[in-house]
Amino acid sequence: MKKRVLSGIQPTGKLHLGNLIGAIENWVKLQDKYDCYFFIADLHALTTAYDDKDHLKEYINGVAVDLLAAGLDPKKCVIFKQSDLSEHSELHLMLSMVTPVSWLERVPTYKSKIEEMSGKDLGSYGFLGYPVLQAADILMYKADYVPVGQDQLPHIELTREICRRFNNFFGNVFPEPKDLLTEFPTLPGTDGRKMSKSYNNTIALSDPPEEIRKKISIMVTDPARVKKDDPGHPEVCSIYYFYKIFGPDRADQVAQECQAGSRGCVACKKELAEILVKYLTPIHKQREQLSQDPQKVESILQDGAKRAREIAGKTLLHAKQAMGLV
Ligand code: TRP
Ligand code: SF4
Repeated sequence: MKKRVLSGIQPTGKLHLGNLIGAIENWVKLQDKYDCYFFIADLHALTTAYDDKDHLKEYINGVAVDLLAAGLDPKKCVIFKQSDLSEHSELHLMLSMVTPVSWLERVPTYKSKIEEMSGKDLGSYGFLGYPVLQAADILMYKADYVPVGQDQLPHIELTREICRRFNNFFGNVFPEPKDLLTEFPTLPGTDGRKMSKSYNNTIALSDPPEEIRKKISIMVTDPARVKKDDPGHPEVCSIYYFYKIFGPDRADQVAQECQAGSRGCVACKKELAEILVKYLTPIHKQREQLSQDPQKVESILQDGAKRAREIAGKTLLHAKQAMGLV
C-alpha cells in the first residue's frame, strides 16, 4: 500500500513562482509515488481574508486552474476544495475541545502574522484556531506525510501534539503525521525580499510574458554595480539566483561574466526574462485551455470532493464514536 500524502494551499492570491518552486513542483512529483490529497484551503484563507469576499472566489478558481496547469493530475491524485467538505469544519470543532489556548498562542506564526498584517484585525477566534483547522485537515486523511516549507513546521508539530492529546482521551483514532520538508529555499521577489503575496512582489504563474519582462526589468541587482563594467557579485543578486533555478545551464557563465564586468545587468535580465517566459509557456498553454472550460475545472473539484469524502466521512464517524457522540 502506498503511503498517504496530504497538503493544502491557501487561495489568498494568485499562485506565483515561489509557490511553484517551493511546493507545487514537488506535489507534481509526489503524485506519482504516493496516495496524494491536495486541496485549496479556502477556510484557512478566510481567517485573514474574511473581508475580501469579492476576490476570494476569483482566487479559488485561479488556484484550481494553476494547480492543474502546473501538472497536478486528477487521475493521479485527489484535488479538492476544503469548504466542499463540512467534515473539515466538524473535526476542527471537535479537536478544538482538547486544544489548550496556550498552545495556540505559542505558535510562532500566530504572533508573526499579526505583526506582518498589522493593518488587519486578527484578534478573532478563527485566526487563533488556524492551526487546529490545519490539524483537522491532516488528521482527517490519516496522512503519513505532509509536504510543507520550513515556516509550516510548527503547525505540523502542533498537529502531532493535538493528535496525541486526542488519542490519550479517546483511544487510538489518529496516527501521527510526519512532515516532508520541502528543501527548496525561498525565492526572492521583485524587491529582493522573500516572494510572497503579502509583500506584493510576486511573479504570478498567470502573468503574461510582457508582465514577466517588466517585472524582471525592475528587479534589484548587485547594488555595487554602478557602471556596466564594474565587477559584480552574482551571489548577492536575485537575478543570478533565478538563473540557478530556472536556467542552471547558463548560471556558471552568467556568474563568470558578471564577476569579470563583461556582462550588463540589462542584458542579463533580458535573457533571464526569456528563460522564465519559456519555462512558463507550458503552464500558460494549459491555463488557456482550462479557462475556456470552467465546467471541467468545476467537475474535477466536485469529483475530488467526492473521493475525499469517502475517507473524511469514515474518519469523522470514528472520531465521533470515540468521543461518545454516536
Ligand atoms: N497553512 C498552510 C500554508 O499556509 C496551508 C494548509 C492548510 C496546509 N491546511 C494544510 C498545509 C494541511 C498542509 C496540510 O501553507
Ligand atoms: Fe545580477 Fe546579472 Fe547584473 Fe550580475 S550581471 S549583477 S548576475 S543582473
